[in-house]
Amino acid sequence: MADKQNVERVGVVGAGLMGSGIAEVSAKAGLDVLVSEVSADAAEAGRARIEKSLDRAVKKGKLDEAERDAVLGRVRVTTSLDDHADRDLVIEAIAENAELKTSIFAQLDKVLEPHAILASNTSSIPIAKLAGATERPTQVLGIHFFNPVPVLKLVELVPSLLTSEETVERASAFATEQLGKETIRAQDRSGFVVNALLVPYLLSAVRMVEGGFATAEDVDNGMVLGCAHPMGPLALADLVGLDTLKAIADSMYDEYKEPLYAAPPILQRMVDAGLTGKKSGRGFYDYG
Ligand SMILES: NC(=O)c1ccc[n+]([C@@H]2O[C@H](COP(=O)([O-])OP(=O)(O)OC[C@H]3O[C@@H](n4cnc5c(N)ncnc54)[C@H](O)[C@@H]3O)[C@@H](O)[C@H]2O)c1
Repeated sequence: MADKQNVERVGVVGAGLMGSGIAEVSAKAGLDVLVSEVSADAAEAGRARIEKSLDRAVKKGKLDEAERDAVLGRVRVTTSLDDHADRDLVIEAIAENAELKTSIFAQLDKVLEPHAILASNTSSIPIAKLAGATERPTQVLGIHFFNPVPVLKLVELVPSLLTSEETVERASAFATEQLGKETIRAQDRSGFVVNALLVPYLLSAVRMVEGGFATAEDVDNGMVLGCAHPMGPLALADLVGLDTLKAIADSMYDEYKEPLYAAPPILQRMVDAGLTGKKSGRGFYDYG
């Protein structure tokens, strides 16, 4: 029988920007990966995203074709949450919406085996809230990856007040020993460590553009050329997804009631217009 402490079978819920990346790095680590999506089309789009990313790795000489095929062979897709029943760890990576996430947590809790860990890749929704939707709060935590997942080393581990130390240790071993990531621990406060610092910065850049203070290009060039950032804040906002950034800012504002977390109106207008950034082809920049 498999060692129940080890993670061998990983489930990922949501195959968007983050879910597809989490599935890819897990499959690269040799794990059996199941990804669920809302529809067959969305599941196929997620699979295609993983394939494209692996093809890029082959082009760069980081992977050979046989390895790419083996990695892809370890990823299955489904439209049924029930198919996660045999997973040791399920990582939820759906849209940043507390109601949707708690409903997924409640459903998964019913089908998973008692030893399984339920994790969220949320950026800003309290882990305690997600844990409260389950009957296994000691085995619920935040495992927060960064975008693009195959490239960025960091994972934030976020226990709630009820998460057991054993769960954190199992999640830590998964992230470091199996995926080769580096971890930091953060308290269960909206934004954890990185987004608590990053989001106000991105929102300030959006406010600068909204107020006509400078163009997106000038703001970004300022930070790239003047501060040696690898990417400017508006290009980064486009990469994160403006819908996701808006949702994260809203949860953080809800938590702290600080004006620095309040999303500028232009962000909602752009989301309403479907200009969600790189993933939709247009945000502060045009990717057409
Ligand atoms: N974008 C980033 O840079 C980033 C970084 C770290 C963490 N996050 C967090 O990761 C999560 C996902 O963000 P994203 O950027 O991948 O969003 P995304 O919009 O790219 O993808 C979300 C996916 O979830 C799917 N989905 C929605 N409801 C579902 C359900 N009930 N079952 C299965 N799939 C469902 C959608 O079809 C979509 O494909 C959010 O919580 C976000 O805060 C995002």
